[in-house]
Amino acid sequence: MRTSVLLLGASSALVAARIDPYMMYGVPIGGLDIDDESIVISTGTTVESDDSTGAFNSTQPAIPTAAPTLPSTPGLAEPCAVVSSAVKAIPSGSRKIIPAELGIQCLRSVPLDKQGNVQLLEDLKIYIQWQSNLAYLKNPPAEYTESPVDLMAEIESMKRQLSDNGYNNEYEFQLDLNRLFNRAYDNHLTWQPDILASVMQFQRPVGSELVSVSSDGNALPEIFSYQDILLAKKDPSFKPSPVRTINDEGVVEYLRKVAIQAGFHDADTRWNALFPSQPLIASGMTYLGSFRTGQYSSPNTTMSFVNGTTKSSLNLAVVLKDFDGVNNGDTFFKKFCSGPTTASTTATPTSSARPTSTSSSSSIQTPEPSHTGYPKPIIINPNLSVGGYFLNDTGYDDLAILSIPSYESPDVQRFQNVMRDFIRLATEAGKTKLIFDMRGNGGGNAILGYDTFKQVFPQADQEPFGGTRYRAHEALNVAGQVTRDFSGNETYAQKNATAFVENFGRTTQDDVFLFTVGFNFEHQLNVKEEKFNSWEQMFGPEVANGDQFTSTLRYNFSDEASYTYPGFSVIGFLENANETSTPQPFRAQNIVMLHDGMCSSTCAIASELLKNQGGIRTIVVGGQPQFAPMQGVAGTKGAQNFGWDDIQVRMQIIYFLGSPEQQAAWNETALGRTAFAEQLFKRSAYSSSGSPAGGINLRDNLRANDASKTPLEFIYEAADCRMFYTAPMINDVTVLWKGVADRMFTSGGSNSTKAQCVEGSTGGTSSVSGGGQAKSGEPPRSSEPALSSVAASIAVGSCLWKWAATSAVMLGILHF
Ligand SMILES: *[C@@H]1O[C@H](CO)[C@@H](O)[C@H](O)[C@H]1NC(C)=O
Ligand SMILES: *[C@@H]1O[C@H](CO)[C@@H](O)[C@H](O)[C@H]1NC(C)=O
Ligand SMILES: *[C@@H]1O[C@H](CO)[C@@H](O)[C@H](O)[C@H]1NC(C)=O
Ligand SMILES: *[C@@H]1O[C@H](CO)[C@@H](O)[C@H](O)[C@H]1NC(C)=O
Ligand SMILES: *[C@@H]1O[C@H](CO)[C@@H](O)[C@H](O)[C@H]1NC(C)=O
Ligand SMILES: *[C@@H]1O[C@H](CO)[C@@H](O)[C@H](O)[C@H]1NC(C)=O
Ligand SMILES: *[C@@H]1O[C@H](CO)[C@@H](O)[C@H](O)[C@H]1NC(C)=O
Ligand SMILES: *[C@@H]1O[C@H](CO)[C@@H](O)[C@H](O)[C@H]1NC(C)=O
Ligand SMILES: *[C@@H]1O[C@H](CO)[C@@H](O)[C@H](O)[C@H]1NC(C)=O
Ligand SMILES: *[C@@H]1O[C@H](CO)[C@@H](O)[C@H](O)[C@H]1NC(C)=O
Ligand SMILES: *[C@@H]1O[C@H](CO)[C@@H](O)[C@H](O)[C@H]1NC(C)=O
Repeated sequence: MRTSVLLLGASSALVAARIDPYMMYGVPIGGLDIDDESIVISTGTTVESDDSTGAFNSTQPAIPTAAPTLPSTPGLAEPCAVVSSAVKAIPSGSRKIIPAELGIQCLRSVPLDKQGNVQLLEDLKIYIQWQSNLAYLKNPPAEYTESPVDLMAEIESMKRQLSDNGYNNEYEFQLDLNRLFNRAYDNHLTWQPDILASVMQFQRPVGSELVSVSSDGNALPEIFSYQDILLAKKDPSFKPSPVRTINDEGVVEYLRKVAIQAGFHDADTRWNALFPSQPLIASGMTYLGSFRTGQYSSPNTTMSFVNGTTKSSLNLAVVLKDFDGVNNGDTFFKKFCSGPTTASTTATPTSSARPTSTSSSSSIQTPEPSHTGYPKPIIINPNLSVGGYFLNDTGYDDLAILSIPSYESPDVQRFQNVMRDFIRLATEAGKTKLIFDMRGNGGGNAILGYDTFKQVFPQADQEPFGGTRYRAHEALNVAGQVTRDFSGNETYAQKNATAFVENFGRTTQDDVFLFTVGFNFEHQLNVKEEKFNSWEQMFGPEVANGDQFTSTLRYNFSDEASYTYPGFSVIGFLENANETSTPQPFRAQNIVMLHDGMCSSTCAIASELLKNQGGIRTIVVGGQPQFAPMQGVAGTKGAQNFGWDDIQVRMQIIYFLGSPEQQAAWNETALGRTAFAEQLFKRSAYSSSGSPAGGINLRDNLRANDASKTPLEFIYEAADCRMFYTAPMINDVTVLWKGVADRMFTSGGSNSTKAQCVEGSTGGTSSVSGGGQAKSGEPPRSSEPALSSVAASIAVGSCLWKWAATSAVMLGILHF
């Protein structure tokens, strides 16, 4: 019995650049995989910021008063057995909440799977070959603010640690591996395993959310209870007192330690990620911050306030799985660590539609969609990913705001229409200034990032650069070669209809085309927007920073297969070619981006084009309490992500196109090992759509004319201006938008006194106003210079030959 291509249904052929909400710390439940009907999630985690009754008190789940007690003598009672009986005692319909300390004891009782973990690390080494920026993580340029990490070497070292009995239990191992991934601070590169991510989730109690608040937007912020700030709006006589210590440590020091778990490459953004996100809550995603929800920290949280009051509460674990039959670490392992129980990985193409029953979907389906807590929009995408607003107050009546909390839109056409219609309505209404509020935006459909730029720069000479590249490794090379053969109708499976049906089942050649089009040299353009003549020309490799990369690739926005959104035309191209005659709707100096650092992937694509091609300035809000510049974009700046299954399905497709001889040869190489890896999929957590929760950054995003070809996340970019949140801004987004306008726009407005930016935050040489538009990357730290592309092609001549020869011998695939 031959298995045919396995994963098509669970995967997507569209170029997506996003972070899965599943992987975001600070999202209590939304997006988690809850297949088990017996688990009912109460609304306790949903913050209704316009709920005047105080959501926290009314929805505070009863913390078990008779909290299950911990086994007093270790060994006497198995902690997982205590969890199991505690969960059974909780009435159905209630959230399954146990003390965090009990939860962690259960997780720590799961025995180490030494053999399995060695295999897992081997799988990861194969899959991480696809991570575009390994060499830059290992050896970053001087301007990169984070510490280097050599992922491959660290994985090797973990293998040694396993064989030296360096781990006590499975949880400890998973945590160590998770922390390693985290040190890349790339939220496309994630590994979320079963124990850490799918059995229980640690939380501080409802109501313990914090915020960082400044008295006037420029003074250094202090830490307050988020609930206090909401309360003070309703009762102006209530004066919240700042938090002084948490668990006996200074609040700032404590929070800096907690913040480290967020996957952003900038400490100020990790700081912001500690707190509830106004735009994400508005768009229906209950992002309450990594302080409230994240990894296990301690049994309880004790806060002391400046006024002398101290509050202490038990930390919690929300149990997500059915503990029936689990009575110790061994039975835990058998039940939860043996791979997905559902048939999710063999979903058929027709079942690929994502279930819409997330906790946030009910609010999306209300007749009149709106952003929770925001004013009435002029126009909004029902998906809530984009909405347009006007402020009508005197002094701000020339202002239009596009709030874009997400690029995740099931209907990209609708997203484009909402944005285009709003810009038209705004110019017709005489608005001359535009704020792109991109706070919290974790990305989504990559094409919308390029389209956002064209919406405000529709003219023909504003071609989005959008240069990307892959890491050039062996499996990619084979994929490109087989894809070329596929185009020529020359693969074994195409020549043998029986074999094709046997291997691909209902998957058609059109499907195969779509899934492999990213490797198809005929549908990519080179840096000068010319066709590649061959796969070899596209593949290169070019050498930089001691690693190998493909040529710089650009999309052909007149070729749907190139950007993979059939039927969708970017503004200025194909169906929308007419838009090149639309006048630019706003002058560049009258547009600003509002960032909080969390902008990632597709959002980073848009921001790169707006800033470095369009000359659009940035204001950033929040960050650590210090007078200093802050970066606007600190999520991954990679141009495309692949989940583990995205990689595997493509390697299976390539494999099944081959002849029996090719297949036998490939089985000895990365291609076969990728196509048939099991342990990685066995130990992954899964999202509600059935995808394994993790993956890599596939393509670096590059800057036009940057000879160093530095992946963008390693180029430091200060915003033009920074402000801190004030309490009124947290309670009313229009106050925030006015704060932006006060600082960024003066000319033409009725307000002649320009408000100040945070001391020391302006004039950064990488900001637009500091002359940093289109600034190139710096060479990496080591003595090894980045080769210019001309030098590179000469220098790697011999290497290229060796590479091809090796593949020919090892794979035997070049000419059959
Ligand atoms: C929350 O509950 C506490 C204690 O029961 C009470 O003192 C407080 O007024 C309540 N707050 C709100 C907003 O209802
Ligand atoms: C002190 O401040 C905290 C936080 O605002 C508040 O909850 C508490 O009631 C205050 N204590 C007193 C005695 O006012
Ligand atoms: C909180 O935890 C600490 C350390 O485990 C303990 O000393 C303290 O008594 C606990 N406080 C409460 C209120 O549970
Ligand atoms: C501004 O006026 C428009 C049109 O009357 C309205 O739809 C919109 O909600 C108003 N904006 C705010 C922030 O009140
Ligand atoms: C929009 O829809 C997609 C797909 O249905 C979903 O994953 C995403 O969370 C939605 N975004 C928002 C902001 O609601
Ligand atoms: C590809 O080859 C098969 C088998 O020879 C043939 O049936 C099919 O028509 C060819 N397709 C194209 C597009 O040439
Ligand atoms: C075509 O494929 C089938 C199924 O794999 C195989 O049995 C058959 O021998 C192949 N035919 C040729 C001519 O290779
Ligand atoms: C881009 O794609 C269009 C449509 O397929 C094609 O006509 C055009 O030649 C392509 N551009 C280049 C430079 O190949
Ligand atoms: C251009 O054509 C598109 C699609 O037909 C249409 O939606 C759009 O309104 C047109 N734009 C202009 C400026 O006429
Ligand atoms: C390649 O490996 C897979 C998975 O182990 C196996 O199913 C397949 O039969 C192998 N193919 C060949 C030609 O040996
Ligand atoms: C104008 O700027 C000043 C100084 O920051 C501020 O106090 C005022 O509220 C702003 N807005 C208007 C409409 O005057």
